[in-house]
Order: sequence, then structure tokens, then C-alpha cells
Amino acid sequence: MLQTHDTQARPFIKWVGGKTQLLEEVRRALPADIAFHRGLTYVEPFVGGGAVLFWILQQYPNIEHAVINDINPELICTYRVIKTDVEALISELSTLQREYLTLDADSRKEYFLDKRAQFNTKSTAPATTAALFIFLNRTCFNGLYRVNAKGLFNVPHGRYANPRLCDADNLRAVSRLLQKVDILCGDFAGTGRYAGPDTLYYFDPPYKPITETSSFTSYAKDGFSDTEQIRLRDFCNQISEAGAMFIASNSDPKAQKPEENFFDTIYSRYFIKRVSATRMINSNPGGRGSISEIMISNVANI
Ligand SMILES: C[S@@+](CC[C@H](N)C(=O)[O-])C[C@H]1O[C@@H](n2cnc3c(N)ncnc32)[C@H](O)[C@@H]1O
Repeated sequence: MLQTHDTQARPFIKWVGGKTQLLEEVRRALPADIAFHRGLTYVEPFVGGGAVLFWILQQYPNIEHAVINDINPELICTYRVIKTDVEALISELSTLQREYLTLDADSRKEYFLDKRAQFNTKSTAPATTAALFIFLNRTCFNGLYRVNAKGLFNVPHGRYANPRLCDADNLRAVSRLLQKVDILCGDFAGTGRYAGPDTLYYFDPPYKPITETSSFTSYAKDGFSDTEQIRLRDFCNQISEAGAMFIASNSDPKAQKPEENFFDTIYSRYFIKRVSATRMINSNPGGRGSISEIMISNVANI
């Protein structure tokens, strides 16, 4: 019998800066002929939760090959396990789900701390690391990922009544989609070797903070300073010279401070567009609601 798979793959974790609300803007910024571009490779050097990756691969099946990268080793371990050993992951995650959901609130917190300590040993087998990564993401405060100076995950327990920890259908759908994806771990610059005329890059780097207090940028222990933003611009120049197309998004500091011209200055040779987006994940209530985003591209129709 012919097997059909109806489940649409979507992000399997909550991730700060997740792009689900911006997909329409990304779609409008894509090259006009994207659906007809044969042999296109899609590269996402800051993949995070993968909202754009999953959407674009399902929307444009002509994308034959994709490359994803992130500097977070546990996140990348999880993508690799989903690609190559999804049933082992589902089995471990179902056990965590079953054990956690039967506990009362106090025991859940204890269980969470115990699993967080196990995750922080950094010596678990890949499928266990991936199961713990998803478990902690779904049970910690606001789905945040924050590490201390030693690189240890330190987000406290969140209190969700009935969190869905293991969505086996979605994990299998993601696994099928990842079969055409190369998965790299490291600095974004490592994706430079893929640049060429049949390559489309989408960059979603850690945001430039839009207010003094909001710090969207502490994903990994090294942060993402203005110097890093400029290094990314230099990388955009390099891949453009190799013939690649790119789209980049970031927070728009100009929305709060009209005199702020950082991105306009560093990306002056490219197309720039400002759009409005809704951001929900931030522990600071003032950070919720509609904020302005900036999109930069070397493709004319942005
Ligand atoms: C804004 S998030 C991406 C969100 C993603 N678009 C989504 O929908 O979930 C930025 C990502 O960049 C990663 N990152 C930070 N510095 C990096 C670097 N130098 N090279 C590659 N990835 C980096 C972080 O681990 C984080 O996952």
C-alpha cells in the first residue's frame, strides 16, 4: 500500500527569535523565480528552531539540497539525531513525558532539576542528549536557552499544566525532511564554501538589542556584538561576490531610535526593507507585541 505522510514538519522546540510570524515577509523577499530555480541549495547559517527551514523546504520542493548550521552543539546534536535515529529519540522522549506528567508540581521541579544536571554532564549519548534538550526546552521557563559562564544550561523550571513533550508525528515529519539537509555545527563563516550562483542564504543572527534592557543576544556564551554584525556583513559581501543570493533579518533599532543608522550604514550597498512583526517570547512584558524588523537582501524584489 502506498504510504502517505500528511503531517507538515514544524519547529520541534520553542526558540527565542523564532520566525513563524515573519514567514510571509520572508516569502515576499524571496527571488521571484525561486519555484523554478533548478538545483537550488538553501543555506541557513543561524538555524535555531528552523521555522524558515521547514517552511521553505515544504513550500519549494525544487530545493534539492539544504545546509543548516548553528553554534549551539546540543541543538545541532538534536537535529542530527532526528535525521538519523528518530525512533530512539521518540522512545526516550516518551519515557520522559510519561514520568514527568504523572508527578505533582513539587516533584516535577525536582525531576526537571535532575534532568538538567544530567544534560549538563555533557556526557550523555546523542539520543539522550536530544531527548533531554527537547524535554528541557518544553518544561523550562518560557522555552529559553541560556547558559552560564561555564556553558551550563541554567534556565529554571517553568510551570505548564500539561506540556506536550513528545510529538512523534512531527518528529518523524522533520526527520523525513532532514534527509536532504547537511547539518553543521560552528560559526556561520563555515558555510561559506557552499556559496555559488545556485545558492540562497537566509541569515537570522542574534538580534541587535533594541533597548538597553532587552538582551536577545545571549544564546551562547560568546554573544553577538556589533563587531560580529559587521563580520556577518563582510561574509554577505563574500558570498555575493561568489554569486549567491541572500536575505538577512534583524531587529530594527531605528524604530526606537530614529537617529540609529547602524544597518543602513553597514548594508548601504544592498536592498533594505522595514517590516512589522509580533514577538511573543520575552520574559519582559514590555518586549511583547509588535516590533519592527529589518530585512536586507541582494535580491532586487525585496
Ligand atoms: C535569532 S536565532 C535564530 C532563530 C531561527 N530563525 C528560528 O526561527 O528559530 C539565532 C541563532 O544563532 C545562533 N548563533 C549565535 N552566534 C552564532 C554564530 N557565530 N554562528 C552561528 N550561529 C550562531 C544561536 O545559537 C541561535 O540559535
